[in-house]
Amino acid sequence: MTEPIVQELATAKTLPPQDIAQLDNLLADPAFRERFPHLEIWTPNGTVAYSLSKELISRHFNPPLGLTQALSGEVAVYHADLTAPEHTLRNFHTRYLEIYSPLRDHSTGRIIAVAEIHEAVLAEEAARLQWTSWGAVALVSAFLMACLFGIVQRGSRTIELQRRHLIQRAEEAEAISSEISELRNRARVASLELANLNEKFIRSIGADLHDGPSQMLGFAMLQIEQVRTARTAPRRKAALATLADALDSALTEIRIIAKALVLPEIEHLHAEAILMRAIKLHEARTRTIVEFKPAGTDIELPAAIKTCLYRFIQEGLNNAYRHADGNGQQVRCRIDTRKMEVSVHDSGRSRGTTDVTSNPGMGIHGLRQRIESLGGRLSFERRAGRGAHLKMSFDLEVGILNGESGISHTC
Ligand SMILES: Nc1ncnc2c1ncn2[C@@H]1O[C@H](COP(=O)(O)OP(=O)(O)OP(=O)(O)O)[C@@H](O)[C@H]1O
Ligand SMILES: [Mg+2]
Repeated sequence: MTEPIVQELATAKTLPPQDIAQLDNLLADPAFRERFPHLEIWTPNGTVAYSLSKELISRHFNPPLGLTQALSGEVAVYHADLTAPEHTLRNFHTRYLEIYSPLRDHSTGRIIAVAEIHEAVLAEEAARLQWTSWGAVALVSAFLMACLFGIVQRGSRTIELQRRHLIQRAEEAEAISSEISELRNRARVASLELANLNEKFIRSIGADLHDGPSQMLGFAMLQIEQVRTARTAPRRKAALATLADALDSALTEIRIIAKALVLPEIEHLHAEAILMRAIKLHEARTRTIVEFKPAGTDIELPAAIKTCLYRFIQEGLNNAYRHADGNGQQVRCRIDTRKMEVSVHDSGRSRGTTDVTSNPGMGIHGLRQRIESLGGRLSFERRAGRGAHLKMSFDLEVGILNGESGISHTC
């Protein structure tokens, strides 16, 4: 638009006044002024040939970068350098976009001047776009940060929850393992003590056989000699009678010892029937009454537990008879597939009577070894004037019923 008006610059260093007036006319349009608030025409050496700011016309400045670049034939775009003298003179504070465009001689094509326009709209648009894009970047970043924060929060909550679960599991496992090792120790000690008791028991049977029947049989052997050497019939008869008596005594003692050793047939019985059998035998032997209170389910038990159950009732009732005169004898039992609890109670001795037992026996001690060696527990409680309470319990959940515990079914 301005190129035809500045052709004079091909030969002159300044523009004649009529060309300046023509340019003023051209740029007087308000729409043009709003879009391009400033226009300068530079000569190649850095002199302002035309400007909307009249005070700049004919003044020489250091050629701005855009001018130098435009002189090489390119259109150059820069942000206004607000420190440049041509700007400080006019108190510029807005960083317009400066567009430098070469103006050529129509006949030779040589660059004779450079037009510099200030693009207000473009600068505002660029600033607006810059702010918009910064805003968009900030929004997207904030959204991404929020998402990441949410994910991390949820992840760390899950990790914390799992960590607490793991700690709880580890504590439970530790507690169970120490309980198992304690039970194992108790079972080992109980087995050892049971073996000792068995040893003692066998020795006592040996002593019983030695002191009782074997003495009698020895005496009977002597009587055979008497019979053989008897000179008269009455003497032989008397010796034979003594021999028969000795053999009879030996036989009776052997029967008594055998009876104490052998358990009644309980192999084929269920728990409740075993308890009934032991109670009935005790009632018949002592002519006392035992109250029986069963509860839960009647189940089949391994042989070792059956024997244990029978011996427990036998010892508990014997003690109730021996140490509490059989007063208030009671057997309670609760069995299901998880637990077996059996107890023997009595109400204690009548007033005025005292326990005649001089030295403490081995009954409860032996019973405890027997029960603990099978993984059960025994407790004994005696309160003055309120009787005694002997209780045995087995945790059947640990595989006792299906034989996983290693307790033999045939004892
Ligand atoms: N039901 C009971 N009432 C009162 N005291 C009891 C009862 N049961 C046991 N005792 C006391 O506990 C002690 C130990 O009992 P334990 O059965 O071990 O031995 P014991 O009955 O004396 O002899 P044994 O070896 O023949 O069983 C008894 O001596 C007695 O003092
Ligand atoms: Mg006893």
